[in-house]
Amino acid sequence: MRIVLVGPPGAGKGTQAAYLAKNLSIPHISTGDLFRANISQGTDLGKRARAFMDEGRLVPDEVTIGMAKDRMSQPDALNGFLLDGFPRNVGQAEALDEILRSESVELDAVLDLEVPEDEVVKRIAGRRICRNESAHVFHETYNPPKAEGVCDTCGGELYQRDDDSEETVRTRLEVYHTQTEPIIDYYRAQGLVVTISALGKVTDVTERAMEALKRSEEG
Ligand code: AP5
Ligand code: MG
Repeated sequence: MRIVLVGPPGAGKGTQAAYLAKNLSIPHISTGDLFRANISQGTDLGKRARAFMDEGRLVPDEVTIGMAKDRMSQPDALNGFLLDGFPRNVGQAEALDEILRSESVELDAVLDLEVPEDEVVKRIAGRRICRNESAHVFHETYNPPKAEGVCDTCGGELYQRDDDSEETVRTRLEVYHTQTEPIIDYYRAQGLVVTISALGKVTDVTERAMEALKRSEEG
């Protein structure tokens, strides 16, 4: 399957993607994680992306689209993928359509995670992620690690993302409303959007998502 995951910052895209990708046996491709890996490796791409990310603004399309395209062309993504955080504006959605068209393949669904704004603010404020593996995500109160500051899965150090400050989160939410939400209408016109509530337990949301994807496949 080829799926796009969309939702505001802190909705739980990364959290859900980890489970959904495993259930569906497809790679989880997060442009945010790819940028963060480039930043920690000190690459030129990371240096370019950093200033935009720290301010909560989108990294320019000419950087982002090429990076996403490269990742999608890796062997593990040939039969499907779960995109998390890409596309993030209509220009990127059009570029993705072009990439898929050139491969004669199509998207199966766009899974839209709905969460009220006060909840995303709480989720982001308490988020802690692992330095070794960004898919290892915790929350101070909702999903606390067994030992403070230590990843349950691999023992890595947990840290708070640079762009999770209150001010930057405000910018990220605004960017989401003005630039990313329009892609939901773009995909609705293609009949691809399935919206679910991302409130409740992580496992309940995963179950809701799997059922919604199954229904969209049948319908
Ligand atoms: P990115 O890394 O994609 O960040 P984001 O979209 O802002 O989303 P987050 O990763 O903050 O949230 P999430 O939805 O993954 O939530 P999570 O699962 O962690 O992008 C960062 C930046 O990179 C952008 O601002 C931009 O600068 C740049 N960028 C990336 N892609 C780009 C693109 N395509 N174009 C241009 N620029 C781009 O969950 C959050 C917290 O909630 C966690 O603590 C988790 O434990 C907790 N939680 C999750 N689910 C639940 C639940 N059900 N109940 C309680 N707590 C929960
Ligand atoms: Mg994420």
